[in-house]
Amino acid sequence: MSASKQKATTLVIVLIGPPGAGKGTQCEQLASALKIPHISTGHLLRECAGRSSGIGKQVRDFINAGNLVPDSLVMNVLEERTGRLDCNGGFILDGFPRTKAQAKLLQMTLLSSRKEFELRVLQLSVPKPILLARLSSRLVCPACGTAYNATTKPPLRNSVCDLDGQALISRADDLASTVLERLRIYEEQVPALISYYRDCGVLTDIDGNRSVREIAADFVRALNLNPSLDLEKSAAQPVHFGSQTEEELR
Ligand code: AP5
Ligand code: MG
Repeated sequence: MSASKQKATTLVIVLIGPPGAGKGTQCEQLASALKIPHISTGHLLRECAGRSSGIGKQVRDFINAGNLVPDSLVMNVLEERTGRLDCNGGFILDGFPRTKAQAKLLQMTLLSSRKEFELRVLQLSVPKPILLARLSSRLVCPACGTAYNATTKPPLRNSVCDLDGQALISRADDLASTVLERLRIYEEQVPALISYYRDCGVLTDIDGNRSVREIAADFVRALNLNPSLDLEKSAAQPVHFGSQTEEELR
């Protein structure tokens, strides 16, 4: 899946996975190790939803109901972001594409950029009970967007961001009923998306039901990166959900 027009190759990594699979967690450290931007459409759309404009309200309503935001709006924010200079050397897409239609739109966008690109797609799979446990205990910083987890990755000081001291909050769409709707939509859309990328020969499946460190090591292998690259800066923490460890939930 490449377009040969110019010499420099742009590496485009796509991470697919259900809500709570760890897309943001893995993309953040991969982007930092590779020094390329981590582009989360969820993050870009939440910024848009925070505005008081009519479009901001529309986007907010879609997100808070757990629905997908219409493609036209998503493509606007995505193309604006990937068109910036810092994306010339490559970028990582987190949460885009989510449908086969979006995968085709991405392909058209990449081809029309007239750059040579290499597309690699990673799919993270995690059982539903683990996803629900992770999302019910996720905390985020409203200022810088850093994600924590009350049980698996707590902040250093109770309920405040390690980076800027802001009080941590739960994401509005992490309400249990909204999470179930997000999962339902994911399960409805993902089979066609996965078979599209499998047919293109660019897909690697990764077991996301392991420690952050183990998953990161698989990313290094799947992307043929230097094996000495340590994506996780901090040591792996033991994982607990209430009285059960994540190991026991698996
Ligand atoms: P988005 O923000 O992309 O949400 P999502 O896909 O539902 O995924 P999450 O961000 O909830 O989970 P994640 O996989 O990033 O997990 P994380 O690393 O945080 O999208 C939100 C909304 O925006 C959508 O519902 C939709 O409305 C809209 N939208 C976005 N993109 C769109 C598109 N393309 N088209 C249309 N609409 C779009 O980890 C979760 C928790 O688990 C954290 O607490 C973390 O610390 C913990 N954790 C992570 N990894 C591990 C591990 N290995 N072990 C234990 N705990 C872990
Ligand atoms: Mg995320």
